[in-house]
Amino acid sequence: MREILLATGNPGKAKEMREILAGDDDTVVWRHLKEFADRRWPEPVEDGETFMANAELKARYYARLSGLWTIADDSGLVVDALGGEPGVRSARYAGEPKSDAANNALLVRKLAGVPDEKRTARFCCAVALSDGERVLARAQGVVEGRIIDQPRGTNGFGYDPHFWVPEFGMTTAEMAPEQKHAISHRGQALRLLRDELIALLRG
Ligand code: IMP
Repeated sequence: MREILLATGNPGKAKEMREILAGDDDTVVWRHLKEFADRRWPEPVEDGETFMANAELKARYYARLSGLWTIADDSGLVVDALGGEPGVRSARYAGEPKSDAANNALLVRKLAGVPDEKRTARFCCAVALSDGERVLARAQGVVEGRIIDQPRGTNGFGYDPHFWVPEFGMTTAEMAPEQKHAISHRGQALRLLRDELIALLRG
């Protein structure tokens, strides 16, 4: 039986990650950061220039502290007309304290006057598994869309109400959670990592 730490303090996100990663496999005991709250680990500084660099540094950091194999992710929105912003700074695009409303307002303001066809964007997610020394596996996922000014939908979080997915004719905030997970950057990255993890566990 191997214990694997999911490096998120959000139990809802941990559950979603576990559901995708575990599948039918019952040989892993899944842990998440809230279970280690009494250790008072400071959060790592996520100063990587790429989503993958941040996922790897987070996975390695918590694997060292916990002594467990650890999976971490990093994600964000990349907007072509803004030279890739908000990118790795997606969570705090409009500064501290982090606020989805302020981030979305800034995004819409920066895109004022940009025509529809130039509003292409993508959600990106990188996931990494580390044993504290090495990165044992890594994977990435991407979902393409366009930024719209008027928010639509109330599901999801972050930039979802402004992220329009042409194939579905709706924003990711208008999708049911299962529908979003099926196509999302995070879902794709985690499904790819699951395949690598199965191979590692079978040794
Ligand atoms: P983190 O990877 O949890 O740190 O997320 C980084 C930031 O990217 C979030 O705070 C959101 O602003 C944005 N983001 C990442 N994934 C999504 C998504 O699926 N929908 C909307 N916003 C997202």
